[in-house]
Amino acid sequence: MTIDTMGTPDPNASAPTRPDNGSALDVPSIKADFPILSNRIDPPLVFLDSAASSQKPTAVLDAMRHYYEYDHANVHRAAYDLAEAATNALESARAKVAGFIGATDPAEIIFTKNATESINLVARSWGAANLGEGDAVLLTQLEHHADIVPWQQLAAEKGFEIRWIPLTADAQLDLSDLDRMLDGVKLVGLTAMSNVVGTLTPVRHITEAAHTAGAVVCLDACQSVPHTPTDVSELDVDFMVFSGHKMCGPTGIGVLWGRRHLLEDMPPFLGGGGMILDVRLDGFVPADLPAKFEAGTPPIAEAVGLGAAVDYLEAIGMEVVREHEIRLTAYAMRSLTERLGDDLTIHGPAEPDLRGGVLSFAYRDIHPHDLSQVLNSYGVCVRPGHHCAKPLMRCLGVGATARASWYIYNDTDDIDALAAAIEASGDFFSP
Ligand code: ALA
Repeated sequence: MTIDTMGTPDPNASAPTRPDNGSALDVPSIKADFPILSNRIDPPLVFLDSAASSQKPTAVLDAMRHYYEYDHANVHRAAYDLAEAATNALESARAKVAGFIGATDPAEIIFTKNATESINLVARSWGAANLGEGDAVLLTQLEHHADIVPWQQLAAEKGFEIRWIPLTADAQLDLSDLDRMLDGVKLVGLTAMSNVVGTLTPVRHITEAAHTAGAVVCLDACQSVPHTPTDVSELDVDFMVFSGHKMCGPTGIGVLWGRRHLLEDMPPFLGGGGMILDVRLDGFVPADLPAKFEAGTPPIAEAVGLGAAVDYLEAIGMEVVREHEIRLTAYAMRSLTERLGDDLTIHGPAEPDLRGGVLSFAYRDIHPHDLSQVLNSYGVCVRPGHHCAKPLMRCLGVGATARASWYIYNDTDDIDALAAAIEASGDFFSP
């Protein structure tokens, strides 16, 4: 059954109304797919920290268990049936992930430990081979530390410049000086969606400008791939990274997608077994893609879990996921503002369709850590802190925020529980 999870639409509200195609999510059914959501009952779990890591549906847990119980051996190494089953499981997951992001060639999908490792791979391989004194890398002030520190580490060694796209007052990218900033830039590192304030960035626009200037684009899509349809050829980026654990998959697996010709020209990142064609006493010959970048035993069960997560999300439909999140974001911004009034500050874009399902906020002068501890006593999970984005925090003029983030298994009841718990924290801390 399809249920309108947003409640009765308010005709005066700015939230998009539900289309007549019955595409809104059946959240009660989805919640039932996630065991952890019903395993904590006193108080019940109100999980609003999916930007940090999503919960896992039974289908993913079952797929990983089945793999270990029936198909596990090491991959690409042996001739027995079981090893072939494991290899097929890994490669089938790679093909699913490729399809999910519109990549036509599964060999362009590199499995890593996480998105952070994927960015480090691009920096240490493409960056080390292509960047030097006189060059520049352009980043944005929205970036996560994972898209800042690897470039700073490399810049310290190679002597290139790092430039920063500034932000507007509502934490959108200020692109007024983009063409001048791109002069001499060889790589643009860009988030598709801020993990702190939810800002969606104009990826295609920036990519066109970057390519005109002769730069490649590495997209941090950790927050966007789980939440919105993604097609690398439409985005026209050159590299894209994301992690499995934010999209219903397991921890321990990340993805790097890159254009084949770029990946082929890049030196290996990590050395070891699996990434070579030949090794002699005086050197080695790297393997073809994707093995060249997958030294050591890969995250096989994690890839199987990620493949199951892709199946799960595709069965829902990523357009539907995005539509749900816009509606829930609109509801949250409207209802929290109405209920908490001037005591509440929401950071980032005012329009729900300019942001993902992430809300960073302040309530009165209560420190986000104190606030989140009180929310926890009501079962409400939000993340306090700098969210691994300290330069952005400085732009916002705060040291920390409380951040609520939602996903397919959240509905208006969760937002109402958040609002009630915030109100209760006001009572708790009032003199
Ligand atoms: N990058 C994750 C977050 O934003 C961990 O919370």
